[in-house]
Amino acid sequence: MSGAEMNNAPELSGPSQDHDRAQPAPGLSSLADPVTIGHRHHDSQIELFSERSQQKDVDWDAISGQLAAILADRHLLPAYRAKYEALRTLAVKEATLSQKEAWGTIAESWETSQSASGQDGNDMFTQCLLPEVDRLAEYTEGKTVLDLGAGSGILCRRFAKKGANVVGLDFSQPMLDKARKRAAADGHTITYDYVDLMDFSNMKQWADTHGKFDIITISTTLKSLPDLEAIAQALPLLLKPNGCIVNVDLHPAFSKPAGHRSMEIFEDPETGKQQLKTYIKVTQYLDVKPSKSEAVRGQPVPQTIYHRPFWALLDPFFRNGLVLDAMREPAFKTEGGDLVHAQSYHNFPQTPMLLAFRLRHAVRPEGT
Ligand SMILES: C[S@@+](CC[C@H](N)C(=O)[O-])C[C@H]1O[C@@H](n2cnc3c(N)ncnc32)[C@H](O)[C@@H]1O
Repeated sequence: MSGAEMNNAPELSGPSQDHDRAQPAPGLSSLADPVTIGHRHHDSQIELFSERSQQKDVDWDAISGQLAAILADRHLLPAYRAKYEALRTLAVKEATLSQKEAWGTIAESWETSQSASGQDGNDMFTQCLLPEVDRLAEYTEGKTVLDLGAGSGILCRRFAKKGANVVGLDFSQPMLDKARKRAAADGHTITYDYVDLMDFSNMKQWADTHGKFDIITISTTLKSLPDLEAIAQALPLLLKPNGCIVNVDLHPAFSKPAGHRSMEIFEDPETGKQQLKTYIKVTQYLDVKPSKSEAVRGQPVPQTIYHRPFWALLDPFFRNGLVLDAMREPAFKTEGGDLVHAQSYHNFPQTPMLLAFRLRHAVRPEGT
């Protein structure tokens, strides 16, 4: 279970082996609270989950979160743990399928929105994200680069232009098609392959046949993953001993879904000029449920994004033998902001929209 889902678990005050606890209410929501669940009720709850899991209109994210909360109970009997884990695997699988469908429907509009400025990547990419990836990756001639969740290939092309040997992986065929078409049109030799970052055995098999890389990049993809366990286990298999992993994504605290842009427009009493004051409102940070979101405004099927506070974002990597070795919080530095679009992140120069960090193997070969 990922730290993020564990985070949905209520604080347990003690062992939950009290068989005389209150009967759970029949609704799914009551199942999120392991404290109200006596073990003698577990069989009927597992049945209820199994029954629900056959239905078409199941909210897989909710079920996955609730199962994670139950599994966070360290006193859960092993027999029940195994059953709940099997159901959670099913819930995560369904959530992954709906993510794949959502990404497939926006491959075209994602690519268009990213090249609207005539550059490779929108202003968030060109001004904040890509320069930070460059700094953290420390690419030098001859290094190999693997981009996970490559999408239409913005990062792959950036490294290919530097002369790198680049491979991009994604689970969306329409995205891979876009990326391959662009590589052919631009004359880049970039390899794109299908890999599901939610599927450890798929990644391991790929790693066994393709070897390890000097630099692994992951851009705006971790928030799309219902669980980080599989990718955290696979990364050490894909990384050379002295290699590095650079991850960049929307900031856990200051960007969606936890951070809400807020602003005040007022006339400065000294000058009479209109002023814009911006700030980020964070009312919930630790327990933010999976949220619907649009990667491209107006997209037909919304995506789900998975919030993780810092500890939950990093914990799966630390548990799998990686250490944090650099971190940045890039923000726009636009002089005067963008007063035409008050909501623009250009008006939040003191608020990082992104978090970028670098990971390495915790144990390096001797003498390095
Ligand atoms: C926001 S896009 C980012 C694309 C690219 N990294 C970039 O920065 O332009 C997220 C990408 O992650 C991919 N993705 C999401 N879940 C995935 C999974 N389980 N396995 C592989 N790719 C996944 C999506 O298909 C999509 O292309």
